[in-house]
Amino acid sequence: MKNFLIVCLSILTFSSFSQSKLNVKKEFEFAAKQYQGMLSSHPDLTQFPQSTLPDGSPRNMKSDWWCSGFFGGSLWYIYQYNHLPTWKAAAEKWTMAVENEKYNTRTHDLGFMLYCPFGNGYRLTKNPVYKDIMLTGAKSLATRFDPKIGLIKSWESFVGGYKYPVIIDNMMNLEFLFWAAKESGNKELYNLSVIHADNTMKNHYRPDFSSYHVLCYGPNGEILAKKTHQGAADESAWSRGQAWGLYGYTVMYRETKDKKYLDFARNIANFYLNNPNLPADKIPYWDFSKVGEERDASAGAICASALLELSTFGGKDAKTYYNSAVKMLESLSTPAYKAELGKNNHFILMHSTGHKPGNSEINVPLIYADYYYLEGLLRYESLRTKKKLF
Ligand code: GLY
Repeated sequence: MKNFLIVCLSILTFSSFSQSKLNVKKEFEFAAKQYQGMLSSHPDLTQFPQSTLPDGSPRNMKSDWWCSGFFGGSLWYIYQYNHLPTWKAAAEKWTMAVENEKYNTRTHDLGFMLYCPFGNGYRLTKNPVYKDIMLTGAKSLATRFDPKIGLIKSWESFVGGYKYPVIIDNMMNLEFLFWAAKESGNKELYNLSVIHADNTMKNHYRPDFSSYHVLCYGPNGEILAKKTHQGAADESAWSRGQAWGLYGYTVMYRETKDKKYLDFARNIANFYLNNPNLPADKIPYWDFSKVGEERDASAGAICASALLELSTFGGKDAKTYYNSAVKMLESLSTPAYKAELGKNNHFILMHSTGHKPGNSEINVPLIYADYYYLEGLLRYESLRTKKKLF
């Protein structure tokens, strides 16, 4: 996040980039009003806003659900924009509500759960308590790395009796481990992140740079199966998975400066952006093979945020990445995706798809769509104004 801003300021010139109708001030004013309703309707700090149930009522989850960090993280983004103490207080409350997960060794999702709230909180406040919590959490996450396999295990098992499933989403945990490596001086965390990313690059991707969702490994790192869980088919391109990979390899380049990751991120971006099944508004269907079905606004938001960072690394397609990201954010800011004030159970965005094959969270708001939308808006504002926002 911090590094992102520095890179942006030093590299981008904006004369050749398209002017946008995006009004970040208006978007953050709306987000604050909408989330005021979310805060009022969520007095219980063990009930984290997640989505909407089929009957229209709010879907809340506990702190051990992979999404528990996104609400606190979103509150930090609002505070980053408006600097108001009430938002800081709300962010602090919902951040600390996740603390206990620092001991959780049963999931790979600690990057989302801890780094989104505590990482943003630490960046903005330098509260040493947040740092300690994250360093403990990073150690918990690292217990899931088996050096013989060379990957962080995502889930404890997967249908078919597989015992070492790794999902593309796992690339999103590495930013947290890179941070922890720097802060603690523990080079192991850096090394295992690089090994995980290299094996994912080797095994998870197809020749067209689309990715599988789940790879099932044997005890010596042998690949037993290439499957999907949330995508339409084992061989299809699940949209959010493509966005996670793009974001993950963009971070890999930022953190290592190894050009092979930059080239890889660009190839993933080109698969996504040049895909004939990507709609004109650049918000994908939930799976690239499912034209005409539900969209996934969360994939659009993640992709927009990642592309903005990727655009800062220059190259012949930098302008395309930037302009595409802006188009995505513009689309999300229209009434086609953005809720009316007080509606949508107080989430900002509508029309995400969590797990269609599991018949769960289809065409609904999702807390992480809001989080990456706000992040994308901040990145855009930082690039547009050439200012560090904090
Ligand atoms: N990490 C789970 C998902 O993207 O739905």
